[in-house]
Amino acid sequence: MTASELEVIGWSEGKLWFLDQTLLPGEERRIETDDPTVVADAIRRLAIRGAPLIGIAAAFGFTLGFLAQSAFRNVPLRSRVERLFTLFAATRPTAVNLFKALERVKECALSHSDREADLERLLLQEAQAIHEEEKTMCREIARNGSVLLLPGSVVVTHCNTGALATGGKGTALGVIREAWERGALRHVYIDETRPLLQGARLTTWELQKLGIPSTLITDSTAAFLMLQNRINVVVVGADRIAANGDTANKIGTYALALAARHHGIPFYVAAPTSTLDLATPTGKEIPIEVRGAEELVLQGLRRVAPEHTEAYSPAFDVTPADLIMAVITDRGIARPPYEQSLAAAVEASEKVSP
Ligand code: MRU
Repeated sequence: MTASELEVIGWSEGKLWFLDQTLLPGEERRIETDDPTVVADAIRRLAIRGAPLIGIAAAFGFTLGFLAQSAFRNVPLRSRVERLFTLFAATRPTAVNLFKALERVKECALSHSDREADLERLLLQEAQAIHEEEKTMCREIARNGSVLLLPGSVVVTHCNTGALATGGKGTALGVIREAWERGALRHVYIDETRPLLQGARLTTWELQKLGIPSTLITDSTAAFLMLQNRINVVVVGADRIAANGDTANKIGTYALALAARHHGIPFYVAAPTSTLDLATPTGKEIPIEVRGAEELVLQGLRRVAPEHTEAYSPAFDVTPADLIMAVITDRGIARPPYEQSLAAAVEASEKVSP
């Protein structure tokens, strides 16, 4: 499997399959299921992860609850919709794509409640449409953003924003990939992304498949490389962007933005319009997921902190809008003031969406 054809999720013969990302890079194992609770659990444990991909997976997972053989089929339609919605909404709180995708499949089910026999097919179409739209948005983001990377660019990126996170060619990683294909990119530094190592495990894996030269660094190395003039641009993804441009992304993003500001280096966020949340005014209102202490005190099965260590592990942070030079969307480059430019991007996306 090469990255240009990297498929991470799909529907086949009444089942959803997905790549279990917790096993990468060691093992490429596909899990196949017709059980919505297996999909919800996969999202919770980050076997499926990345803002766009968890939205796609939740839409397919919701659809599984409408298959003839599903245990959910015995529940009356309205409560089935509520139960499935709640199952997926409770998995992870920060990425808005999850909630937007769930609203779409819920609306699809309720608006066709008089055609219960057709619901499996209609919901599958909706889930597939969400997946296709995310793929298209990735292509547009890459096209719009790659021109911002000037010839000779040396980029640092954080977490994983490629096919594994989006089901398409990626957001920040799509921009990086297209800049490489255009000959503008010299090198990529990949933050390892503590504590779950999405950079070390997943971004390295994707960039190696693409043949893009990259170097893995610890998260705290980026600022030092900036001091040495060895990085000249930052591109990251997002899990939710508030109306004022404040951006929730993987923990460590804010520190990267502060370092970039100090060194006068452009800091770009690449995200589809499905990640823009105009209903949330500022970053202060974005719910931030806090994950279990075991992800800090254990490394794999090995304990690295003493028994009874108290640990605090927010999965995301919020980068204030004033540290962001531009948000690269599928509807163009949004620049400050973000209240206007992000609203315009959403409006443009609604014009073409069904
Ligand atoms: O906890 P994860 O791995 O789901 O976090 C993912 C990120 O923070 C990504 O940067 C974000 O979802 C953008 S993916 C295009």
